[in-house]
Amino acid sequence: MKSETLCDIGFIGLGVMGNNLALNLADNGYLVACFDLDENKVSQLEDIDAQQRGDKPKRIFGCSSFTQLLDSLTKPNLLMISVPAGDAVDHVCEHLISAGIKADDIIIDTGNSLWRDTIEREKKYKPNFIFFSTAVSGGEVGARFGPSLMPSGDPYAWTRVAPVLKAISAKVDPESGRPIERFEPGNPVTEGDPCAAYIGASGAGHYVKMVHNGIEYADMQLICESYHILREGLNLTALEIADIFETWHQGVLDSYLMEISIEVLRQLDPITGEALVDSILDTAGQKGTGLWTAVSALEVGSPAQTITQAVFARSLSSFKQERVAASAVLEGPERIEYNEHDKQQVIAELHDALYCSKICAYAQGFQLMALASKEKGWSLDFAAIAKIWRAGCIIRAVFLQDISRAFIENEQLQNLLLDPFFSHQITQFQMNWRKSIATATLMGIPHPAMSSALSYYDSYRCKTLPANLLQAQRDYFGAHTFARVDQPANKKYHMDWSATPRVLKQV
Ligand code: 6PG
Repeated sequence: MKSETLCDIGFIGLGVMGNNLALNLADNGYLVACFDLDENKVSQLEDIDAQQRGDKPKRIFGCSSFTQLLDSLTKPNLLMISVPAGDAVDHVCEHLISAGIKADDIIIDTGNSLWRDTIEREKKYKPNFIFFSTAVSGGEVGARFGPSLMPSGDPYAWTRVAPVLKAISAKVDPESGRPIERFEPGNPVTEGDPCAAYIGASGAGHYVKMVHNGIEYADMQLICESYHILREGLNLTALEIADIFETWHQGVLDSYLMEISIEVLRQLDPITGEALVDSILDTAGQKGTGLWTAVSALEVGSPAQTITQAVFARSLSSFKQERVAASAVLEGPERIEYNEHDKQQVIAELHDALYCSKICAYAQGFQLMALASKEKGWSLDFAAIAKIWRAGCIIRAVFLQDISRAFIENEQLQNLLLDPFFSHQITQFQMNWRKSIATATLMGIPHPAMSSALSYYDSYRCKTLPANLLQAQRDYFGAHTFARVDQPANKKYHMDWSATPRVLKQV
């Protein structure tokens, strides 16, 4: 790069996400110095910049070392890194320390790091520089034209980086709550409310992004289960299902994930000429954020069964050979043939089942964040979180507007299901939800996420659960004691089960 040009931001890690974030920064008027261990990636990004800016001045300046990168920036240094979560983040940090980064410089980790690692890194690197993070959602397109950003860390660092992160983030129309989308290089969306809000102390942003991904897993799985019921249970084609989803997408189920599912279902396979989805092997991958959410839900003790089932569904899908072998041995129910009228009924019920299950998946995610926030002292603002998820991110959906409204109206809302709007929605649609689950069960089509969502709903609204018997079982074999319904919960009792006659003691 030319030594006389000082850049505003240094960018390290030029994979697809890094490239697109760097170009997004450039579109928003920032001069970006960039570096990657692979020098080809550096020159490729400079070439893309040259194509996209046309005859306008250079905006992205390639560097060949960490030292050159730091020398290329205005002081104090502001750097963003986009490298795989884990050791790669620390390698970059160590290199920057060796290259002379200063205590007042800021490094923003934009990867999908584990929130615990982020907390540790902030402490570890404090003497050397300020380790800040912003979780990024929105995939490649989001990174390029406006992602949803979940920044957290040192509040002073936030004051310095806020203008940058707000500028590159997705924007929402303040009136309608709808995303303002313009996917044009060089013409960024500058109007509207930015989808970047300070989430809290170090680790909070990555935690919230992790839960976002857990919800994303559940949301995707619920759509896939609906597809499965229509495809296998009703024997509809991918194109017919796309048409049904298209109708659903016009109403309460309007979401990005629904939109892309419709597009996917309509895509033909250039090789077979049939629907591409029918040619895709049914084994799902996962990078780990859904698993982290499930593990955290178990650790915090927050019921998030729909999210967890979505993770298990991916795991089970990978047992392809075993499933194929089992399908020849294990019997399912006899096939049910539906007449046209009944088919329409099944489809209508499924719509409501998907909607109610989706509400439960989000309720679980927000409940998990609430418990984690309390445990970790983060004071998460759920209205703000719902707001920044309305555009840019993978779970963006029309009903996030209702979720943000619910938390604005009641900051202390314990569970989304208790919001009058959502409780009314479920009351209205629950019978179809139940029928749909019964239908899928009779069809023998697995629907782990959908049925777990109904179980969550039924358990949450259940005044008396069978945990009384469970406590007695525990007391029987392990003297674990129990509380009584007619005494304060802190008074513990034990039945001496082996004595004759049995004796009840307060312990
Ligand atoms: C996003 C996505 C993004 C990525 C995940 C999902 O919010 O932009 O969630 O983070 O696609 O890594 O990955 P897996 O499905 O492979 O776990």
